[in-house]
Order: sequence, then C-alpha cells, then structure tokens
Amino acid sequence: AARFAGQVTLDGPSGTGKSSVARAAATRLGAAYLDTGAMYRAATVAVLDAGVDPEDAEAVARVVAAARIEVGTTAATERVEVDGTDVAERIRGAEVTRNVSAVSAVPAVRRQLVDQQRDLVAAADAVVVEGRDIGTVVLPGATVKIYLTAAPEARAQRRAAQLGLTTPEEVAALAADLRRRDECDSSRADSPLRPAADAVVVDSTDLDREAVVDRVVDLALAAAGAR
Ligand code: DC
Repeated sequence: AARFAGQVTLDGPSGTGKSSVARAAATRLGAAYLDTGAMYRAATVAVLDAGVDPEDAEAVARVVAAARIEVGTTAATERVEVDGTDVAERIRGAEVTRNVSAVSAVPAVRRQLVDQQRDLVAAADAVVVEGRDIGTVVLPGATVKIYLTAAPEARAQRRAAQLGLTTPEEVAALAADLRRRDECDSSRADSPLRPAADAVVVDSTDLDREAVVDRVVDLALAAAGAR
C-alpha cells in the first residue's frame, strides 16, 4: 500500500473533475481530504439564511465571522455544517452556486476560512487539499502542488453530461459560461486563480479520471520520497 506523509494541493477551475480526482487520490494515499470550496459554499448558506445581500461585503464579513462552519476531513464521507445544521446537500444547490463567487471574493471571509483551513491541515500528517488558492496562498510550502486544467470544451462536455444537456448549442453555451467564470476567477484582486510557480500542471482534456488519479498519486509519492 502507498505510504504518504505530507500535503498535496489540487487547484484549478471547475469542471476539470478536480473533486472526484482529489477524493480518489486521498483514498489511495491513505490521506485526509479537505474540500475548501465546500467551506466557501457553507459560508454562502450562512449569508443567505441571514438575509443579507451577498454583494454587501461588510454585512457578508459580519455574518460569516459569527457563523460556525464545520467540515469533515475524510474522503469517504462528506460532513458540512453551519451552526450545527447539516448543509451538505444544500451547498450543491443552484442558489448557493449562484452566490458563492460574491461571498468568496470578500477578503475578510477569505482570511477567516484560510486560517481555519491551515488549522485543519495542521491536524493531519497526510492530506489532499482541493481549491483555487491552496498552492499559492493557503499552503505555499506544500509537499507537492498540482494544478488541474482542461479545455473549456472538455469541461463543458463533462458538465453537460452531469446536467443531461445534449445539443451542441447547449454545450457551447456552457463553454462560454466557463470561459467567463475563468476570466472572473483569474482576475479577482484577492487570491486570483492561477498555478503556483512550482505547481505541476496536469491537463485532463484527453485523460480519463483513473489516469489523472494515477498521475496525482505518482507525483505525491515521488515528492514525499524525494524529501
Ligand atoms: O470548487 P467549488 O465549485 O465548490 O468552489 C465554490 C466557489 O468557491 C467557487 O466560486 C470558487 C470559490 N473558491 C475559492 O475562491 N477558493 C477556494 N480555495 C475554493 C473555492
């Protein structure tokens, strides 16, 4: 069995299969798993439930500072709670997805959740951490950094299959939307989406999931062995 100790960061845009790759890699490495996107989504639930405008940065920061956001760190089961209430299903809903960009752009929210992420990581001797700014901001000293990309068309195809959309027009509209969101995430002032200088860029456009998981596991074991 693979023996790994250290931190694997997995960053990149949505639609690359990042979450499923991160979970599978954590399981194979016997490592803990942290989904930082789930934390920004849970913060968004708190904001929506408080009835404040997600674009009102000051109000958002106040609500999130008072919220108790708890996430599990095992790949097998997802635990996400806000003030003791299970929100694991709600965080995947359309309302949260629509508003999470605004909430995650608030610097005070990012500082709070980054602190919490570092505490969670410090408690594990082996961990795979998934997000957008893990290699660049949260864990700049990680054992191995991976940046997962794929062509917008490939990401749109994956997303279309998940949503049951089939026509070329529907897929093209999803690809256009992904390009817009990439542009938005990459140009954000605080912690923009970009590969760390020392990240290995893995392009999953022409790879199936198992091949990407193999690559992540190999990179992690090689980096841990080389220390
Ligand atoms: O990966 P995801 O779709 O669950 O991420 C949800 C949102 O949170 C997405 O808009 C990007 C943002 N996010 C972020 O800004 N920083 C992270 N480390 C993780 C997610």
